[in-house]
Amino acid sequence: MAKKIVTDLDLKNKKVLVRLDFNVPMKDGKITNDNRIVAALPTIKYILENGGKVIAFSHLGKVKTKEDLISKSIRPAANRLAELLEKEVKFIPTTKGPELEAAVDALKPGEIMMFENTRFEDLDGKKESSNDPELGKYWASLGDLFVNDAFGTAHRSHASNIGIAANIGEGKTAAGFLMEKEIKFIGGAVDNPTKPLIAILGGSKVSDKIGVIENLLDKADKILVGGAMMFTFLRALGKNTGKSMVEEDKLDLAKSLLDKANGKLVLPIDTVVSKEFNNDAPHKTVSVNNIPEDQMGLDIGAATIKLFSEEISNAKTVVWNGPMGVFEMPNYAKGTIGVCEAIANLKNSTTIIGGGDSAAAAIQLGYASKFTHISTGGGASLEYLEGKELPGIVSISEK
Ligand code: 3PG
Repeated sequence: MAKKIVTDLDLKNKKVLVRLDFNVPMKDGKITNDNRIVAALPTIKYILENGGKVIAFSHLGKVKTKEDLISKSIRPAANRLAELLEKEVKFIPTTKGPELEAAVDALKPGEIMMFENTRFEDLDGKKESSNDPELGKYWASLGDLFVNDAFGTAHRSHASNIGIAANIGEGKTAAGFLMEKEIKFIGGAVDNPTKPLIAILGGSKVSDKIGVIENLLDKADKILVGGAMMFTFLRALGKNTGKSMVEEDKLDLAKSLLDKANGKLVLPIDTVVSKEFNNDAPHKTVSVNNIPEDQMGLDIGAATIKLFSEEISNAKTVVWNGPMGVFEMPNYAKGTIGVCEAIANLKNSTTIIGGGDSAAAAIQLGYASKFTHISTGGGASLEYLEGKELPGIVSISEK
């Protein structure tokens, strides 16, 4: 059955609790990437324009010490939201109590407020993160309706998502537009892709991607493997990988995945190697059969880019998770750029980046607009690609 979305709710004059994922990177109290805030704007605007009163909230980081109550305040995100909305966002520096309740009561249709980091409730016994029943009930009591637009947190079973959904009342929880989009694209790619489906997996560790590989082996036509995880597979095939990063304890697993894959796992045929993990150190491209003993692989090579580009050119659906090399260093970014280019050249295909480092890479390298969807999830996207049910999605009312 399909999930309710915000357009299925009668919002007029209603107090609408809106769970966002504003867990954004910050440095010295300044937001360094506001993508998650920008991505939440359509839902917030829709509720405000339809006469709802928005009570917004999110977690930010992990809260373990009293100092975190200062450094992990979500106020900078509320301020950024106000700038983007060009509208006042009343900030309430607490997570419960009379000040919060009075602000909710004073809210008028078309107005928005935001309260403090939900994980401030973790300082005293992990109430948010362990889904303390009283906390979910309390937050639910503040609103008439609950809109969950926090896809990035959908893999968590916390008071601020499933706790509120369990207490707000039957049929009163809906997905926001961002959540809807993530379900449509990532869920759609995994459950019902237009074929051929090509998955591209990179990043450093096979162990992070086991669940995704196992789930996609059944569904994808090909799985292209890049990033440092390729060396664990190459070593499992008996190749010399020099000083490249290898998960020694995952060699048997890599071997069994290769056996199960029946040719669906496509490994690189060449790699860019250097003696040092350093952009400016001498480097060269070698066949994966000739990796020198004293060198480490830091990117896929030109022949692999060509091979992967040919595979990608056949795709009707592409799912990508994990960079092909150390893309932060220009000399080892070519593999990731090559994959971005190949995807950008596709016509009439659905192309999805499953969050995390590959999303950061595509944005940093200037390819963001070339993808159908870039997920705002990190862990949530990965678990969704693994085929797991995400509690935050499960708890949304059915239509
Ligand atoms: C994320 O950034 O992946 C989400 O906001 C979840 O954060 P968490 O891993 O701290 O629960």
